[in-house]
Amino acid sequence: MYLTKNEEKILNGEKGDVLERMFRLLVRLGEIYGADKMISIGSVQVAGVSYKSIGDPGTEFLEDIASKNAKVKVLTYLNPAGMDLENWKELGFPEDFAKNQLRIMSAFKKMGIVVTATCTPYLAGNLPRFREHIAWSESSAVSFSNSVIGARTNREGGPSALAAALCGVTPNYGLHIWENRQPNIKVKVDADLIFNSDFGALGYYIGKQVKNKIPYFTGVKDANTDQLKALGAAMAASGAVALYHVEGSTPEADLVEKKDLENMSVGKKEIRETYDKLSTNQNPDIVIFGCPHASLREISALANKLEGKNLKKPVWICTSRIIKEAAERMGYDNIIKKAGGNIVADTCMVVSPIEKMGYKKTGVNSGKAANYLPGFCKQNVCFTNIDELVEAQL
Ligand code: F3S
Repeated sequence: MYLTKNEEKILNGEKGDVLERMFRLLVRLGEIYGADKMISIGSVQVAGVSYKSIGDPGTEFLEDIASKNAKVKVLTYLNPAGMDLENWKELGFPEDFAKNQLRIMSAFKKMGIVVTATCTPYLAGNLPRFREHIAWSESSAVSFSNSVIGARTNREGGPSALAAALCGVTPNYGLHIWENRQPNIKVKVDADLIFNSDFGALGYYIGKQVKNKIPYFTGVKDANTDQLKALGAAMAASGAVALYHVEGSTPEADLVEKKDLENMSVGKKEIRETYDKLSTNQNPDIVIFGCPHASLREISALANKLEGKNLKKPVWICTSRIIKEAAERMGYDNIIKKAGGNIVADTCMVVSPIEKMGYKKTGVNSGKAANYLPGFCKQNVCFTNIDELVEAQL
C-alpha cells in the first residue's frame, strides 16, 4: 500500500506511541483487504461504548489511550452507551454499572470525541455529504449513511473506527470504491408498507435472503427517512447488508448499473411470517421504541398516541440527547411522561442491561431490536406496530 512520507513517519513511531499503534492497525486492515492507499475522512462514529459490551478490558484500554493525550483529528461521535447519562438513577440503572459507564465517557471526552451517544448521528449534528468518505461503525448508521445519504464507509469495528478518528484517515477499499457499490440483486416489493415496523420486517426478511449482497429495491414508494432507517437497520442486523438502493428514493439508485441482476420478490405473506417468526410473546413487561434512535417525528407520533392515556406498564422511547432536548421544547416529553412513559437518551434496549432491571419480555417495533434482544438481553420479544404496542401497555 502506498504511504505518504508523513504516514511513514507515523508508522516508524516518530509521532508517538499511540499514533503508531493506531496507524499500524489501519495499515494491517488495508493490507488484508487490498487497499491501495489511505484516504482522508470527514467524520467517525465509534461503536463499543457500552460498559456492557466492552467491560473492564475495554474501559482500561480507552483510559490508557486517553491518559497519553491522544486527540481525534475529525468530528467523532459515539454509539449508544449502556444507560441514560443523566437520568440513569431515576430509570433504575444499577449504580456500579453507571460508575463504569461514566469512566468510559470521560476517557472518550478526553480524546476530543463528542460524547453524544447515538446510532443516528446524522440526526444529531454529524451529517456527512454525498460521496464523503467517513469511518463509521454502528451497522444501521453505516447502512443509512451509505444508502440514504450516499456517503462512503465500510462497517468499522470499534478499534478501527477509533484508529481512523485519531489518524484522520482510513484504508481505501470496499464501499469507498464506486465499483463496489453496484447492486447484485433486484428485490421487487409487492406489499403496502404502512407502519415503520413493516419496513423493519421487510428488512429482516431481505437481509436473511441476500446476506452481504447489495439489494436494489423496486416497488417501495415514497418511504421517508425513518422508514428507510428501519429498513436498513434490520437488513444490516439479519444479513450484514451495509448498502442498498431504492428506485426513485436513494441518491445512487439512478447512477448504479442495473443490468443482469438476480431477481427476487417479496409480498405481504413474507412480511406477516417475519412478524410471527420474531415474536415469542404478546404480553410485554416493557415496550421500547427507538431502534435505531428515534427522530423527532417518531417521538411526536408517539406523543400523539399517548396524549391523555394512562399506561399501566412502562414505555420507553430511545433517542439522542439532542433530539430529546428538542422533544422537551415541543412538550412531547411532558405528554409522554404524563401518560407514564419516558424518553430515554444516550442508550438503547440492546446495549443497556435491561435483563438486570427485571425485564423479561420486551415489545419493539424494530426488526433489528427483535433480532438482537433474545441473544443480547435474554428477552422474549413482541415485534409489532406502534398501535398494538401502545395498546398492550394500557
Ligand atoms: Fe441503535 Fe441500539 Fe438499535 S444501537 S440501531 S438502538 S440496537
